[in-house]
Amino acid sequence: MPTNLRGRNLLTLKDFTPEEIMYLLELAKELKTKKRLGIHNEVLKGKNVVLLFEKTSTRTRCAFEVAALDEGAHVTFLSNSQMGKKESLEDTAKVLGRFYDGIEFRGYKQETVELLAKHSGVPVWNGLTDLYHPTQILADLMTVREYVHKPLNKVKFVYCGDARNNMGNSLMIGCAKMGMEFVALAPKALWPSDELVSEMNLVCAETGGKITLSESIDDVKGADVIYTDVWVSMGEEAQFEERIKLLTPYRVTMDMLKKTENPDVIFLHCLPSFHDTETAVGMEIYNKYGITEMEVTDEVFRSKHSKVFDEAENRMHTIKAVMVATLNG
Ligand code: CP
Ligand code: NVA
Repeated sequence: MPTNLRGRNLLTLKDFTPEEIMYLLELAKELKTKKRLGIHNEVLKGKNVVLLFEKTSTRTRCAFEVAALDEGAHVTFLSNSQMGKKESLEDTAKVLGRFYDGIEFRGYKQETVELLAKHSGVPVWNGLTDLYHPTQILADLMTVREYVHKPLNKVKFVYCGDARNNMGNSLMIGCAKMGMEFVALAPKALWPSDELVSEMNLVCAETGGKITLSESIDDVKGADVIYTDVWVSMGEEAQFEERIKLLTPYRVTMDMLKKTENPDVIFLHCLPSFHDTETAVGMEIYNKYGITEMEVTDEVFRSKHSKVFDEAENRMHTIKAVMVATLNG
């Protein structure tokens, strides 16, 4: 069946079929090749997009900006709007829908991105909320396809760390949709909600995917991909002490990679990452708790297994695919 995503929102990958996700991955691959060849067809010429940010960002903001400009669209970056302060979400959405062809939102509540979609009348893209980070998953799947030489539905994908944050939730959704084997390695206190797991188990029943929640590091055996994310997400900064206690056994180390018994295992991370003390927060944590690395060791981060910068680059190609597909069809 032909795929046409024109006019669609990307609020969570739950709303997309496996075929639609594969279509976006294929389109991203094509756009990446074109960019390498210096071909810009400017398929978004004359379009305007607005990027609304409540939380900080490097990759997501830059990916949207470069992707839009590559295709000839104009961009407004907005991080100090009236939205929610002096103007309701509904009114803001109606105003932005009159000016813009598409809206990106990064912030706290999933409800905000849903309301923007409900009231703006133009495609809305979720650039990260407390619950989901769908554009990141497209880049992750694209990177897996580039480096793991088997079909996605044969891939064993292990996520270590905070499995109930936006990345844990979204990776489980993406893997379930693509029929992959997904293992969340985390202490029980940080497992995803029963509701989301049940929902994704139903998806797996159709796609052939499999979800395992485990506290045992031994379950990395046979992994093609080891993935981790920060132990403390944006907005949860009060949790450092508890998370360090809970998650230290789940730090990605060379020993963990060896335990996979797969010499070709790849390491992925959405970034930013605390793999050394070269950041203000990393230094603060070192001074307070005496640790120089959190979710991943510097050794793994810089090893040949690590594909994190290809993954970061792929944010741009996949976000471009999302805008091209939803604005142009
Ligand atoms: N991975 C990611 O979303 O990065 P930024 O927070 O820099 O946008
Ligand atoms: N879980 C992280 C992802 C950052 C891209 C956060 O929300 O801060």
